[in-house]
Amino acid sequence: MFDFKPAADADPAEVHRDLLGAADALTLDEPDGIANMANVAALIWEFLPDLNWAGFYRVAPTRDGAGSELVLGPFVGRPACIRIPFGIGVCGTAAQSRATQLVADVHAFPGHIACDAASQSELVVPVLRDGAVIAVIDLDSPTPGRFTRADAEGIEALATLLSARI
Ligand code: SME
Repeated sequence: MFDFKPAADADPAEVHRDLLGAADALTLDEPDGIANMANVAALIWEFLPDLNWAGFYRVAPTRDGAGSELVLGPFVGRPACIRIPFGIGVCGTAAQSRATQLVADVHAFPGHIACDAASQSELVVPVLRDGAVIAVIDLDSPTPGRFTRADAEGIEALATLLSARI
């Protein structure tokens, strides 16, 4: 239905601009957050090379309903761990600190959760609404040091766009 795949030699900043534009167009008139997360995970997968996982964890109630934690959302990649407490792993650290985590070597990150043994580097960006974390966007790569500041800024712009759409 949609064919967004950029050329292999495309400028990374331009790829992120195009990714943001495509995500804007696909989510603009759609109020269903799950549909929007699913399409954006697929878009990230199409636009950005050298990934082995791309998707969302949402802030949702714990099993006993006594608190909240990150719960697996729409993604592309291998089946992943379902629940991640705040402060644990790269995703939980991003959620607790409300700050992007750009990790060149996941094996050097204390408490990293290895959902897919192929993952070597990771980028996690929190999605904030009214100052509170509502989700994180998680990208994994099989290549060490895959993610740059340009990737972090691109995914942060995507997180801002999605704040009211997921
Ligand atoms: N590696 C993440 C867990 C999620 S998977 O990468 C999909 C972490 O340490 O939080």
